[in-house]
Amino acid sequence: MTDPKGTSMRAVVVTDFDTEPRLTDLPIPEPGPGEVLVRLAAAGVNPFDWKVVEGIMRGSVHHSFPLVLGSDGAGTVERVGEDVVLEPGDRVFGQFMDVERGRGSYAEYAIAKAAKLARLRADLDFELAAALPTAGAAAHDFVEATGVGPGQTLLVNGASGGVGQAAVQLAVGQGVRVIATVDPDTAGYLRELGAAETVDFTEAPTADQVREAHPDGIDAIVDLISTPGEIEPIAALLKRNGVIVSSNGAVDPEVLATRGLRGANVYANAQPATLASLADSVAHGQLRVRIDYQVPLEEAADALARSKQGKARGKTVLSIS
Ligand SMILES: NC(=O)c1ccc[n+]([C@@H]2O[C@H](COP(=O)([O-])OP(=O)(O)OC[C@H]3O[C@@H](n4cnc5c(N)ncnc54)[C@H](OP(=O)(O)O)[C@@H]3O)[C@@H](O)[C@H]2O)c1
Repeated sequence: MTDPKGTSMRAVVVTDFDTEPRLTDLPIPEPGPGEVLVRLAAAGVNPFDWKVVEGIMRGSVHHSFPLVLGSDGAGTVERVGEDVVLEPGDRVFGQFMDVERGRGSYAEYAIAKAAKLARLRADLDFELAAALPTAGAAAHDFVEATGVGPGQTLLVNGASGGVGQAAVQLAVGQGVRVIATVDPDTAGYLRELGAAETVDFTEAPTADQVREAHPDGIDAIVDLISTPGEIEPIAALLKRNGVIVSSNGAVDPEVLATRGLRGANVYANAQPATLASLADSVAHGQLRVRIDYQVPLEEAADALARSKQGKARGKTVLSIS
């Protein structure tokens, strides 16, 4: 628990790249101008969190250690800095990661820029809200970047995980015909979410199965799996002028253009308006968020190790208070 004087908090930190996350006590930070101190109730786990520990941004951005891990969080505003419209007691959610200042959401308290937080509807709980920011905003931005519309066919490669499940539902909601990659355990669930077709990626290569079912090609792809150098068999499924969006920087738009295809590497931007709209969709039953693993903050290191091993069938959430 936080100390009785209220000056320190528990947080999950790493002291360097490639070190083990551990629970420690840190001073509760003070919000500066435009910033908000949030008493977190829950934090969402994303693959990006362990990729940060592995150094995905090493060399491109300064990291301050000890570095509090975690991007996504939801909780109650505790204190605000100058020029902030939010007030103590407001329920909020959003992204908290700021590696340059060693800040993150796996903690009892975290600072965020007020401009990065959305107010949380009263009818949504903190755990669901903490599961939304990165995966929901990514799904939103990726589907939007494809530009697919009603009646067109979209393959979501990686549909069984957190981003994929949301992307399937957001596309289906726009009248898109979705092909979802699944394993045997998630096939039924992805159908429930509206996927018109499922492809079991554990059976045979996804590209081979989609090619067999769609010899004339498909309109669009959201690829959450391929890394640079791996995208070709998936991109080759597209019709002429088809579009592929990669979450992992795997697309070379210029190479695709020479073949009459379009492509983009998209990095999600969790704008408060997007977050609020995602929360509305959850509240209205249009977007289901499956939390498949929920543990206390103390077990963050295990939760990260589990995320890294794969087999995600929804979101992982850390309960904080
Ligand atoms: N660019 C951005 O802004 C952005 C934002 C969010 C996420 N991302 C990235 O997008 C990726 C997905 O994120 P996430 O949060 O959805 O991850 P996740 O929850 O871990 O889900 C990944 C899913 O993909 C499945 N999978 C693994 N190999 C597959 C294959 N060959 N074919 C089809 N499915 C396969 C996994 O199942 P198994 O483990 O059983 O194989 C798992 O269900 C991650 O690399 C993440 O870092 C990027």
